[in-house]
Amino acid sequence: MCGIVGYIGFRQAYPVVINGLKRLEYRGYDSAGICVIDKDPVTYKCKGKVVDLETLVGKQLNGQIGIGHTRWATHGEPNDVNAHPHESMNGKFILIHNGIIENYSNLRCKLEKRGYTFKSETDTEVLVNLIEYIYLKGNVTPEIAVRLALTKVVGAYGIVVVNRDEPDTLIAARKGSPLVIGVGEGEYFVASDATPIVEYTNSVIFLNDNDVAILKKNQMVLKTIYNEALEPNVQVLDLDIEAIEKGGFEHFMLKEIYEQPRSIHDTFRGRIALDPAEIHLGGLYKVLPNLIDAKRIILIGCGTSWHAAQVGEYLLEEIARIPVEVEYASEFRYRNPIINPDDIVIAISQSGETADTLAAIRMAKEAGAMVLGICNVVGSSIPRETHAGVYTHAGPEIGVASTKAFTAQVTVLVMMALLLGRKRGTLTQDQYKELIEELYRVPQKIERILENDPTVQNIAKRFKDATNFLYLGRGFYFPVALEGALKLKEISYIHAEGYPAAEMKHGPIALIDDTMPVVVIAPHDNTYEKIVSNIQEVKARKGVVIAIVTEGDITIKGMADYVIEVPQSNEAVGALLTVIPLQLLAYHIALLRGCNVDQPRNLAKSVTVE
Ligand code: G6P
Repeated sequence: MCGIVGYIGFRQAYPVVINGLKRLEYRGYDSAGICVIDKDPVTYKCKGKVVDLETLVGKQLNGQIGIGHTRWATHGEPNDVNAHPHESMNGKFILIHNGIIENYSNLRCKLEKRGYTFKSETDTEVLVNLIEYIYLKGNVTPEIAVRLALTKVVGAYGIVVVNRDEPDTLIAARKGSPLVIGVGEGEYFVASDATPIVEYTNSVIFLNDNDVAILKKNQMVLKTIYNEALEPNVQVLDLDIEAIEKGGFEHFMLKEIYEQPRSIHDTFRGRIALDPAEIHLGGLYKVLPNLIDAKRIILIGCGTSWHAAQVGEYLLEEIARIPVEVEYASEFRYRNPIINPDDIVIAISQSGETADTLAAIRMAKEAGAMVLGICNVVGSSIPRETHAGVYTHAGPEIGVASTKAFTAQVTVLVMMALLLGRKRGTLTQDQYKELIEELYRVPQKIERILENDPTVQNIAKRFKDATNFLYLGRGFYFPVALEGALKLKEISYIHAEGYPAAEMKHGPIALIDDTMPVVVIAPHDNTYEKIVSNIQEVKARKGVVIAIVTEGDITIKGMADYVIEVPQSNEAVGALLTVIPLQLLAYHIALLRGCNVDQPRNLAKSVTVE
């Protein structure tokens, strides 16, 4: 939540910061602000998006040092005053912040007693005033003031600070919220993730908690907030600029839906072999014996990643016969769960930064569990804090509603289930080979499903004004129903519920009438007959059925109002296929309702608050 950008070097900072903020807008977009320093700092900020900020500024600001912020409100409503950057009371420091200062009210009281007044309701203004107070009172350098202030702060922060007395210096620091430094030739970039940086340089440093970077043109000093010197660990990122642009699509979400044949292929590329049938997950190599002997696996995540975990439960139990529990990270961490040393916790996260998931990981590690990660963003916090893991290789996902990250997560879970099934002897070599081949064929099958987009668009036209949707599925397709409902809710603001089809008769059936669209995920599998009965139950109450069926299905075609076909497949990869039409349906309905598909209201992609 919140995106921050900083630049210091020989270029004009304004376009670097504005373009960077546009790339980070998925992290929050309720207000934006910028400060550029030529001789003196010049600050603009307003409610709204980065384009509104550009209109407000109306020209390019001159200066080779700049900071900018795009906000997802935590403390204080989104308005001009609460927007960042925040300036200290005497104007010495200007700061942008991503995170939450938990002890802000205590600090604010203390500062008020010492004569400080506040313009905004934010925790950030407390921090910038604390820095200034220490600077003026202690007669120390700006860097020392920042470091000392940070030792007094409880909570999470990624900050970038500039100051009037040393206007040639940018100070960046992190704890809890991500911060990346791009290292150019005598110039430095700072951002919440690498996407604003890669068009200038691929050399980056991921700051760790309690790290501080003091940046000047041609000079970088890294240390901890406790003044311990650090050696920069510069990594070269394999991320190109095309991957983070729309590439001719109207929205990132649509691009990302259409990328799935490739992103799934990229996720299994080099990891599966067909002849002889084999799976290699290099990131799990050293923990494979623990996984094979695991008494229980606990899958944790939030949002769409939690739905991938649900699919993972079916996969790992069915194929590898390991008991699995799925937990919302936020619930897991607060309910004193029983964690045994031979449990393995697997955290699933696109961003690798979700605060609840990170906190749950820390708790599980403290309890002695081995913790693994399935993440998309390379170098993010979760991969760095887990014992081992697997990257999903879906490439950057910018649309706030997750699509290709979900299918990449499920792809990893399929590979893990197959690998463990073979190693534990619950799969024969022939079954193993057959299922690997099934996975290998998924990208081509998704290409075929995407060809059905016009059918989905027609269905979207028919239902764009519906006020409620029900999504039903059984077995592997129950989590798909949850995910389909979530997609619709997130981007079209239509209320939607996902339900196990058999549970419909215990409640949701009361809602069904001729205005209620019911999406049923009903490909051929071993519960097919049962789901056919569920469709009949809906039809008997005049519900309108949109069914996802296997190509060539005749029975359901004769009963449902609309059908969308997906190719025949083994149910182990069924979630990967059946979720695609649901993503498209949500997309087209949202588009027809005039919603902002890539940046739905109130949401953010990377949720770094608890
Ligand atoms: C937010 C996003 C969702 C995402 C969830 C978990 O709510 O809007 O799309 O599924 O966070 O994020 P993670 O990065 O941990 O997968």
